Amino acid sequence: MSGERKETWRVGPGGTLRGDLRVPGDKSISHRAVMLGALADGTTRISGLLEGADVLATIAVFRALGVAMEGPEDGRLTIHGVGWEGLSSPAGALDVGNSGTSMRLLAGLCAGLPFDVELTGDASLNRRPMRRVTEPLTEMGAQITTSDEGTAPLRIHGGARLRGIDYSMPVASAQVKSALLLAGLRAQGHTCVTEPAPTRDHTERMLQGFGYRVQRDVATTCVEGGGRLWGTPVDVPGDVSSAAFLMVGASIAPGSDVTLRHVGWNATRTGIVEILQRMGADIQVLDAGEVGGEPVADIRVRHAALQGIDIPEELVPLAIDEFPAVFVAAACAAGVTRVTGAAELRVKESDRIAVMAEGLRTLGVEVEPLPDGARIVGRDRLGGGRVSSHTDHRIAMAFAVAALRAADAVVVEDCANVQTSFPGFAQLMAGLGLSIEWREDA
Ligand code: S3P
Repeated sequence: MSGERKETWRVGPGGTLRGDLRVPGDKSISHRAVMLGALADGTTRISGLLEGADVLATIAVFRALGVAMEGPEDGRLTIHGVGWEGLSSPAGALDVGNSGTSMRLLAGLCAGLPFDVELTGDASLNRRPMRRVTEPLTEMGAQITTSDEGTAPLRIHGGARLRGIDYSMPVASAQVKSALLLAGLRAQGHTCVTEPAPTRDHTERMLQGFGYRVQRDVATTCVEGGGRLWGTPVDVPGDVSSAAFLMVGASIAPGSDVTLRHVGWNATRTGIVEILQRMGADIQVLDAGEVGGEPVADIRVRHAALQGIDIPEELVPLAIDEFPAVFVAAACAAGVTRVTGAAELRVKESDRIAVMAEGLRTLGVEVEPLPDGARIVGRDRLGGGRVSSHTDHRIAMAFAVAALRAADAVVVEDCANVQTSFPGFAQLMAGLGLSIEWREDA
């Protein structure tokens, strides 16, 4: 799937970001809308859906499981839900490409199906840890095999009888929490998941939106198996994780002024805003509201001088996907920024601590990688150079934005996977003022 096509960006130094726009739909919410829509009784009409490769992979999975859908087109997808009993055995392995969310959530969703399912992905995804979901699912009675290293392909044997468990997650992971809750819908009794720190709660909110009872305590979420989901309209807000690149870009580039409309503003996702504001960013909420159980806001970001900070560890899970962008903000801030408590960054689409450290050093930044974070010494102007994203979409976008404060061009290799979360990023950024050129390599 993705990753086979090669794309290189050349981003000219300096510039200003100015504009008023809506970023593509939220990836996490889009995945969940497709999954719950397929499992529901009745029709689900989604608008604002992210048409990125990761979500398209989830859509393809449900088509392979026999669910009829129209779209996606212009962010609209209509799903004719079939209920749990309506899913049918797929013809072959289900390939979810680069999408960790698809694989982990589907592991839970498929654990209680009456037929076998094999989940596989691209080279990067098939290296990522899966025991964090397969072990608790096995405790629930699922029959799943992984490679000897605990990685995909995952072979899920059909017909397992699942039972609810009480599970305390060792890592703060919304994917693990969601996988267990989805399995819990098919399990006998209650499934309760306790998280060590708050993580994104889109699954819990959306289950309730589809009419499923969810009990939520401070750190524990429970569902009782055997209930049904009812199709419902879903309006997907813009992805705050995609907006993060614009927030950082506008903050570091003098003269910038960007307004982002209808951005998902769920408190389990806005750690990036708090981090940037602590660094001195000028981020203003113009309008806030709620759509379909998810908070949204219009925000305005203008250039500001940033200061290095020690990032509080409790903000880490609330900004876990935004650290490539945060590292760039830190590289352009006065003084030192320290990130700790973020070991999870090492098992994302790439080892984001190692890969960001490598690229920032190429741009002349002093970075000390730590086992669970990094110490970054900011500078007024970065150097130019050639960096690799290691096929990681968020690394590619972070270095594109870094060029706004570079003295020379930044060439970013391996950018094709940006289509997984932010299709049209380069074109959109060019429209806002980034001097970015893109080239496909054979
Ligand atoms: C996601 C959860 C996070 C995040 C990922 C999307 C989700 O992963 O990094 O991009 O949609 O549940 P973890 O659960 O591994 O932290």
